[in-house]
Amino acid sequence: MPGTFEGKIAVVTGGASGLGESIAKKVAAEGATVVIADVSGRQDELAKEIGGTAVGYKLDVADEEAINAFETWLRDRYGHIDTLFNNAGVNGVMALSHEYPMDSFDKVMSVNARGAFMVQRMGLRLMLDEGGSIVNTASIGGLFATPTASAYITSKGAVVMMTKTAALEYARKGIRVNAVAPGIIRTPWLDGLDEDLIETLAQQVPQGRVGTSDEAADVALFLASDHATHVTGQVMLVDGGRSAG
Ligand SMILES: NC(=O)c1ccc[n+]([C@@H]2O[C@H](COP(=O)([O-])OP(=O)(O)OC[C@H]3O[C@@H](n4cnc5c(N)ncnc54)[C@H](O)[C@@H]3O)[C@@H](O)[C@H]2O)c1
Repeated sequence: MPGTFEGKIAVVTGGASGLGESIAKKVAAEGATVVIADVSGRQDELAKEIGGTAVGYKLDVADEEAINAFETWLRDRYGHIDTLFNNAGVNGVMALSHEYPMDSFDKVMSVNARGAFMVQRMGLRLMLDEGGSIVNTASIGGLFATPTASAYITSKGAVVMMTKTAALEYARKGIRVNAVAPGIIRTPWLDGLDEDLIETLAQQVPQGRVGTSDEAADVALFLASDHATHVTGQVMLVDGGRSAG
């Protein structure tokens, strides 16, 4: 759908790697000015690689002051934004709930839940005058639990519900809020995992394979686009059929 985002201002958090990188490249290819916001330091290099009007911005989504400064920067530069992919996320350690370490729980919640909420709040403020579309990155884990991942699962459950709440609040203000919920997709997120474990996980997927970041990015772009103008408050799974039964 080249040109779907022509002239739009799009922001992608966690945009320097994996799913965010795929989203940034695709939305830029479809005509958007993309702002790649990431804590990693790779955002400027990626913006250069994408070229055109793409720009990098160093942002820690867990830092409220930094988000406020980012909001001011976006407003001064563009006046508003049209599209927000609220995608930055981290994983926690694996442990049973009764012994889950609170430092890991707090870290995951500060980025995935509190951080995502603050970024969504910023996006809403920048869309109030002209409308827009937000796509939060949830996870299959926001809908179906996995043992030993309580921090991550809890944080993505929060993303699901903040998506639905905002969708209701802004439906008559021209702002749509949806979430993309990947199952397992091949990104640097999986880098530390043993290939045998990835193959075991793949066999739990009806399609017999994990997804790609491009496959999840395509769904995120669809939700953000004018092909989904009557879609809001939805959580769209991209999981090769895993949640079907
Ligand atoms: N890979 C999967 O299987 C999978 C499955 C379900 C959901 N997700 C979700 O997809 C999103 C992207 O993950 P990915 O797989 O592309 O992983 P990734 O590690 O490749 O990318 C995550 C990006 O977020 C950035 N980031 C982390 N903390 C940040 C912070 N505090 N502020 C700003 N940026 C920060 C990282 O620097 C990185 O560029 C995450 O929200 C993740 O929870 C991934």
